[in-house]
Amino acid sequence: SAHRIDVVSIFPSYFDGLTLSLLGKARESGILDLRIHDLRDWTSDRHRTVDDTPYGGGAGMVMKPEPWALALDDLAAGSDRPTIIFPSPAGEVFHQKTAREFSEREHLIIGCGRYEGIDERVFEYAATLGEVRLVSLGDYVLNGGEVAAMAMIEAVGRLIPGVVGNPDSLVEESHEDGLLEYPSYTKPSSWRDRAVPDILLSGNHAAIAAWRHEQQLARTESRRPDLLSD
Ligand code: ADE
Repeated sequence: SAHRIDVVSIFPSYFDGLTLSLLGKARESGILDLRIHDLRDWTSDRHRTVDDTPYGGGAGMVMKPEPWALALDDLAAGSDRPTIIFPSPAGEVFHQKTAREFSEREHLIIGCGRYEGIDERVFEYAATLGEVRLVSLGDYVLNGGEVAAMAMIEAVGRLIPGVVGNPDSLVEESHEDGLLEYPSYTKPSSWRDRAVPDILLSGNHAAIAAWRHEQQLARTESRRPDLLSD
């Protein structure tokens, strides 16, 4: 059974890039059933309105609840409690383990908000249809959920069995073992007076593995001490 991901956005063409590369191939081969939807298709007024002014006042516009409810009803129909993700700077932080968890879900629905947010009742309503997760890419603010959704789709998609051709390439990368990746080198062995570390040319696989692990620890300590203490 293919993994299904529905995305709802008022800028569906943001997601055109997902036809490229590994994820594009996964879609063509049927491993990944990725469907991009325009929220305005669930409006019924002449101007296809998706936003309105905020109760209580304040800057910007808020996304109206009804188009979201109609979209979620349609997309969740016939599905057994899908995981409904709303990218939001006010959500839990997205990590590799979140990507792993989402990659094990049969059906994800990702709702991309714009403007100053979505009417809060949408999240309550969505919780009647599936498991709702507000998820932040990190501690900074984007203009909307689209770029965050793209990042999550790529991180989740590549963990779906068969999407990345060689599964070995998934186990030795940054964040899978809680450490940053070791440095990589290719030919030539000397380039612009810079040599590849001798140990990598030694043929001693145990020594190479030990060196790589030391490099992982040193880099993590220097660049991401939070990964060692948290
Ligand atoms: N929408 C706006 N900012 C965001 C962020 N940091 N993460 C996820 N979605 C967002």
